[in-house]
Amino acid sequence: MPIKRLSVTAVRNLHPVTLYPSPRINIISGPNGSGKTSLLEAVHILGLARSFRSTRLQPVIQHEQEACTVFGEVILNSGQLCSMGITRTRQAEYQIRINGQAVRATAELAETLPLQLINPDSFRLLEGAPKQRRQYLDWGVFHVEHQFLAMWQRLQKSLKQRNSLLRRGRIERSAVMPWDLELVQASERIDDFRQAYLLRLKPAFERVLGQLIDLDGLTLSYYRGWDKERALGDVLDSQFARDLQIGHTQSGPQRADLRLRIKGLNAVDVLSRGQQKLVVCALKIAQGHLLKESGRHLDCIFLVDDLPSELDAQHRDALCTLLENLECQVFISCVDAHQLSNSWQQDTPRTMFHVEHGRIVQTE
Ligand SMILES: Nc1ncnc2c1ncn2[C@@H]1O[C@H](COP(=O)(O)OP(=O)(O)O)[C@@H](O)[C@H]1O
Ligand SMILES: [Mg+2]
Repeated sequence: MPIKRLSVTAVRNLHPVTLYPSPRINIISGPNGSGKTSLLEAVHILGLARSFRSTRLQPVIQHEQEACTVFGEVILNSGQLCSMGITRTRQAEYQIRINGQAVRATAELAETLPLQLINPDSFRLLEGAPKQRRQYLDWGVFHVEHQFLAMWQRLQKSLKQRNSLLRRGRIERSAVMPWDLELVQASERIDDFRQAYLLRLKPAFERVLGQLIDLDGLTLSYYRGWDKERALGDVLDSQFARDLQIGHTQSGPQRADLRLRIKGLNAVDVLSRGQQKLVVCALKIAQGHLLKESGRHLDCIFLVDDLPSELDAQHRDALCTLLENLECQVFISCVDAHQLSNSWQQDTPRTMFHVEHGRIVQTE
């Protein structure tokens, strides 16, 4: 789903601009503070209605401007063009349009424009809280399993109701039973979806990782959020007293995690920072492959920020080759365009952009 045309207005320091990116490799070069990350941020906003740099969009709006707008024309698998636009005002109002129609759910943006981000914070996927790994896993499940979102919403609703009853305290077991039923049903489906996805993710991840780095004994496994030998209903029964005491539900898919271990130890405790980054890159590229191989044959867009400063030349080139082999659209930033000029096959379509003081010019 490459972006054919991208217009950005009042995002950070960027001057209003319309770009015609290559459907494959786009290299964005420029000195520190010129606006490279801001351009990647604009694409991210188009696909997810949020930034990757701040939780709120307010700081993204250019100083002294009332609103920021990102507009894109995306080529769908059918060959048709889809126009997507998002405007965010200082009053926190959003306007999202797809093909001229106002839409409310950001899931529709995400569905049209699947994005993967690789940036200096990416290693946090391994180091950070389980929530980040669940989000990673669910990104994949969401894009390949149509029913996932509805199931996820059912889970959230039943959990919210159950937890609010638990917080009241002094309730009978029977008071939460109706929600338990709903919770168990949604949880089992979500767990099935996740397990099915993981079965495909594991070999894809191992294959990609093997092309980047030799990490003997690294294993990827899935923890579903409750005892793998027991039904969730039983677990909820036996944990009720404790749930009541702490005021929330301890077990369920909301506690799921992905585990990366090496020779029985936590991968983050063993691997160097650089190795962790490569593992994260392999996880993300593997998802790109699965999306392509899924029944829907979607291509995701890779946003790769500051790659050269993160990896040595050999691994940087290996990563570029993997991205190239995915045959999807890539936006990759670097300070000096020469750092990435020899990382690609001669005939891969490539467009170069240079940024200075927020002004973006296509140079090749
Ligand atoms: N809301 C804003 N309005 C105007 N300029 C901003 C805003 N937020 C950040 N900036 C500026 O935008 C510039 C570009 O930042 P960035 O895209 O991170 O640069 P690069 O990735 O090229 O190093 C920085 O100089 C920063 O001070
Ligand atoms: Mg930057």
